Amino acid sequence: MNRRDFLKLSTMAAATPIVSAFGASNNDAGSPKSTSGSALFRVKPYVQLFDEDSVCITWMTSEKTTGYVTWSQDNWSSKERAWDETDGLLDANFFVHRATIVGIDPKKPLLYRVHSRPFEKFGPYGVKYSAPEETLDGEIRELLPKNGVVSWGMLNDVHERTSIVKRFIPHMKDLNGFCCMNGDIMNYVESENGVLGCINKPFSWVAQEAHLPVWYLRGNHETRGCFARNLRDYLALKDGRYYGAATLGGVRFAFLDSGEDKSDKNGQYSGLVAFDRYLEAQNKWLEREVASPAWKKAQARIVFRHIPFPLRPTDSKGGWKHKLPRLTDMDKILQGANVSLGMSAHIHFAEWYLPIPERPYHLITGGGPDPNDAFLTKCFFYKRKLKIVQIDEKSKKSFDRTIHV
Ligand SMILES: [Fe+2]
Ligand SMILES: [Fe+2]
Repeated sequence: MNRRDFLKLSTMAAATPIVSAFGASNNDAGSPKSTSGSALFRVKPYVQLFDEDSVCITWMTSEKTTGYVTWSQDNWSSKERAWDETDGLLDANFFVHRATIVGIDPKKPLLYRVHSRPFEKFGPYGVKYSAPEETLDGEIRELLPKNGVVSWGMLNDVHERTSIVKRFIPHMKDLNGFCCMNGDIMNYVESENGVLGCINKPFSWVAQEAHLPVWYLRGNHETRGCFARNLRDYLALKDGRYYGAATLGGVRFAFLDSGEDKSDKNGQYSGLVAFDRYLEAQNKWLEREVASPAWKKAQARIVFRHIPFPLRPTDSKGGWKHKLPRLTDMDKILQGANVSLGMSAHIHFAEWYLPIPERPYHLITGGGPDPNDAFLTKCFFYKRKLKIVQIDEKSKKSFDRTIHV
């Protein structure tokens, strides 16, 4: 893992360290030209939530360019600049660009402008640009609105049916915090075009049209395929990890990466996975997270995980149960962590599950990729009340429940 600390040219606080493992995409001179309208911008920006005062903007150009962001929260009366840095070098001469913005006032909308300028020659003692700088503008709404409601959404198991994302975007307009893309957004990861078409572009629609950040959480299907190890090169990952935590208002969120759904020894993986080891490290992180003041002092604690937390045998789809000790270890950590709600995916079945001893908190699962099975799950938290609704593709509300936490 290539871990890098980023320094902002912003006057704001120190940057959140993230990994930017620029892989093949940033060294591949044969990367195709833009298909997104602009000749230079191949994929428009998407916004990844890092915390209530920090997001990361990610976009892709068709040529190797510079990549930085200017941003404002007072309609450009004043502006800041965010330009990620690695080992003293400002990120440049890349196809994939990220800029980490730190110091956002979550109660104000964020206006951002991405800047890229293509190089003709990148010499050791000077560079020559081939064209003027180009920019693209975007805006996300205030993460925490004045009415005090903390809101977020979940989409899951799109399985490359990107029209699902498109159809649900109008229903995201009453959300302010983020939409968690809770895994299996792809079927498997085999190429750059697949990643851009199924992940980066739909996420950019959410940023451009719903003005909302996302938190991308990996599903078991995104661990599969010859390009799965390159997936991170196209994403912004907080602290360089697929799993992590964030606070919005009084709500603490933990995003857990459940990895593959079978034992490491399963023949399908050809001896090339180590999820036992990965989950062991993640579980140690989770133990620290649930012992932290941020977790303990929160008014509500939400956990996302693609593979569901334990179901009851008599529940709908109750015949399904993970049999992985590494996930059982994770479940045990959460049993004593005063979780308010679990949000899961994977079983392609939207359902509400009452607390059970192995999972002493409510659980909601999202739907699947088939028509009539796809759901947008939305949550609204205000003064200890957590309202959960699910909307189907025909805009019908199929579930509406409020719990006290
Ligand atoms: Fe799935
Ligand atoms: Fe899955």
